[in-house]
Amino acid sequence: MSVIDLRSDTITKPTKAMRLAMANAKVGDDVYKEDPTVNSLEKLAAEKMGKKAALFVPSGTMANLISLMTHCNRGDEVILGDRSHIYTYEQGGSAAIGGIHSMAVTNEDDGTLKIKDIKNAIRSDNIHFPKTSLLVIENTHNQCCGAPVGKKYMDLVYKLMADHKIKIHIDGARIFNASVALNINPSELAAHADSVSFCLSKGLCCPAGSLICGSEQFIDRAVRLRKMLGGGMRQAGILAAAGIIALNKMTERVAEDHENAKKLAAGLADFSQIIIAPEKVKTNIVYFKVLEKISINKLVRHLEKEGVKINKTGINQIRAVTHYHIKSIHIDSVIKKMAKCLKKQIN
Ligand SMILES: Cc1ncc(COP(=O)(O)O)c(C=O)c1O
Repeated sequence: MSVIDLRSDTITKPTKAMRLAMANAKVGDDVYKEDPTVNSLEKLAAEKMGKKAALFVPSGTMANLISLMTHCNRGDEVILGDRSHIYTYEQGGSAAIGGIHSMAVTNEDDGTLKIKDIKNAIRSDNIHFPKTSLLVIENTHNQCCGAPVGKKYMDLVYKLMADHKIKIHIDGARIFNASVALNINPSELAAHADSVSFCLSKGLCCPAGSLICGSEQFIDRAVRLRKMLGGGMRQAGILAAAGIIALNKMTERVAEDHENAKKLAAGLADFSQIIIAPEKVKTNIVYFKVLEKISINKLVRHLEKEGVKINKTGINQIRAVTHYHIKSIHIDSVIKKMAKCLKKQIN
């Protein structure tokens, strides 16, 4: 039985073109800046994001940690969403390693933070308070159903942050999903950000790797932190070669993932036992709940036996993520199998 794996877009495997490029990649020691393939990837990433420089790092988590530590001194405060990946899913690394204090603000369902809430979260100049140094916006927003955050909102945020001289970092792990969903260049979404990070290893199918983009000065500081955190990867051109294919060939195709996610959400909405708002699905992430009488653990187990893997992400919450290996016919099959598994629970 072939498995339909909807747990995450991180499970994607490199394409044939990537494997070929990886096998033939010219490499050198990247800690000495001598890996030509990493250098090319960083140049391409910076161009795509409209920034002067970029840095290749092993993961999205490290990209965020380095970005926060580059912007903030120990004891500084970062404003971020209470459903943001950095706040909820990165082990509090910015506090544990960077000494950075988090000020969490309620995330709206569209992935944004209310401007008035951000304003209220900014610390005044008082000897008792930490200094607010940074605001993080996540785009797309994973836990807000993959919501893409638009340019108009970024303009508002920028105006407020500029008035207070507070820097902006975008956790753009899936910024290409946002750019495709909103039909706008990623560089425009990142125009006001002092730094933006994005992942190659999710919908773009690379085996590993993320990029941080920003000014030359910012990247000069970030590169030192990457080394300190153990992220200097030496002959990383093998990985960067896949990244170049990803940026040149894989970004636009995520539109297909978005269509499949919408189809999945619409199909799930037809089940009376499932609670879902299909109109919220704008990219490749689908969240849904089930009625209390349904055991979510049993449902996930039954689906797995039927060859469908999904993720339980809360007491009564399931996440399904579409990606390169999921085609429209797989969605038809998931809906059929869901019907069978829900029936099992009722009988
Ligand atoms: C929004 C967001 N940021 C950062 C990350 C971290 O990426 P990684 O798993 O490469 O550390 C993820 C991972 O899913 C994510 O969804």
